[in-house]
This record gives sequence, structure tokens and C-alpha cells, in this order.
Amino acid sequence: MPIQLVTTAAQLRTESARLLTEKRGTSQGLVPTMGALHEGHAQLARTAVAENDVVVASIFVNPLQFGEAVDLDRYPRTLEADLALLEAEGVDLAFAPAVEEVYPGGEPLVRITAGVLADKWEGASRPGHFDGALTVVAKLLHYGLPGLGQGTYRAYFGQKDAQQLTLVQRMVADLNFPVEIVPVPIVRSPDGLALSSRNRFLSAEEREAALVLSRALRLVEERANAHEPLDLDSARALVESQPLVELDYFDVVDPRTLEPLAENCRETPFRGEGLVLIAAKVGPVRLIDNVPLDS
Ligand code: PAF
Repeated sequence: MPIQLVTTAAQLRTESARLLTEKRGTSQGLVPTMGALHEGHAQLARTAVAENDVVVASIFVNPLQFGEAVDLDRYPRTLEADLALLEAEGVDLAFAPAVEEVYPGGEPLVRITAGVLADKWEGASRPGHFDGALTVVAKLLHYGLPGLGQGTYRAYFGQKDAQQLTLVQRMVADLNFPVEIVPVPIVRSPDGLALSSRNRFLSAEEREAALVLSRALRLVEERANAHEPLDLDSARALVESQPLVELDYFDVVDPRTLEPLAENCRETPFRGEGLVLIAAKVGPVRLIDNVPLDS
């Protein structure tokens, strides 16, 4: 079926209710995005389509989560290509509202506060980013509520934005949102680079240099799987040996609290669940990546 584009919350509510009735459906999935879609988003959409009767993908570049106006202006907008990708995956509705639809009175006076989980890692270098992201996610989750006001409701988030995913899970649990958050694994290109809308800004040389991020993560993962000490220092040194890469952070954290677990793995084999987080600037482009550990 061709994808249907809606731009207002009222249209979204009417059309998703109509589709649920028409398909005699009982479940609705939401895939929140900022557009500039790639195979990672296709995987989110594919998972949502496989698990739900009606699927909505939102495309909204949220001004609230950008620090600098230039970054907001520079963010790629590729609506036609995005709609084609979503349609190919079988998404029913694309919700692409204007800024005035989402924030009719200008910036909201009341917002979600992300709290202590947002103080470090990405939050440390992007003050206010997660408050802005959670505020729009809260709104998008409400817009996407199944039109009949009942049925199973799921929303899909990529594991690549690990801190965002943890925060969304906490928000939904702490504030009792009636939605199941479904994490979707990172999609990588064959050479290991995690797919990101920002990869398009890398030169060929920078893209090659960026591979050191996933290599370093793999090294740590292999050590965890072999029940060896993780030796983060040598993996960190590998990243720092690449002249085009400026490392911001590289650490093993508890996936729920995002607190570092370094003591767990310096000299003894790693035990339990962890998440290895990395962020670095490659040329002018800030990239993030991560790998889960479970041993
Ligand atoms: O991950 C993103 O693309 C954005 O942060 C999200 C979740 C769509 C909110 O704007």
C-alpha cells in the first residue's frame, strides 16, 4: 500500500484510527525519526512493521535538541527519499509536522527534565540536548497513541543512541507512559562503521579513520567474550593513535545507570552486563558508537 503523508496531529489520529479499524488491527508501532533516513532507520521500520498492524514513522527535525542554530540549519532534509524508504518497508503513515504544529506557542515553557542520567557522556558535551529530545519524544509518543485509544502500543529506538535509549526507557517507566519501548540493534556497513546520518559529512579519508571506533569496541568485546580483563587503556591507545580522530570518551558503563564499571574489568575478567561507549570527533564530525557486553 502507498504510504500516506500526514502533517497534523488531528490527521494522524483520524488516519491511524481508520487504518486500525480497516485492518481489524490491535497493535500500533511508532518509529520516531528526524529524517535523513538510512539502512539503520529501515531496520527500525522493518521491525515495527513485522510486529504491528499499523505503523507510523515520524519525521521531525526537533529544534529543541540542537545546541547551535547552524547545526539545526545544516541538518539534512530529504523528505522525498525518506518517504520512499518508509514505503518500501511497508510503513502505513508518515507524520511530518511543521515546527508550528509541534510547538504552536513557540518553545514549550514546561519540558521533560532528563535528570542525572543526562549529565555525562553525550549530555556533558551537549547541554540541554536530552531535555529537548525527551520533550519531543514525549510529544511524539502521545501523538502516536493508537487511534482507538486501545490496543498494544510500541515505539522503536536504535541502540546506536544508547544514552537516548536508556533515557527514553527511564522516562516511560518513571512517568508511566502506556507504551513498550523496543530497542533495535545497530546496523553497520560491512567494514564495521555504525550507520549514522552524520557519516555523509565524512571525507573518504575521515571515513577510513573512523573505522578505528568500531575496531576498538570489537577488541573490548572480544576480550569480554574470552573472559579476559578488558584492558580499556590499550583499546583507547589504538583510537588515540589515529591522527584524524579526537577521542572524547571511551568507557564501560552499567547500561541502566550509565555509571562507569571500570573497576570491574581493569585486571580481572569482566562479569555481568555492560555497555562500552565511545564518542570521538573525526575531522569535523562527532560520531558515537557502542557495543553491549554480557558475560
Ligand atoms: O534519535 C533521533 O532521531 C531523535 O533524537 C528523536 C528520537 C527522533 C527525537 O527527535
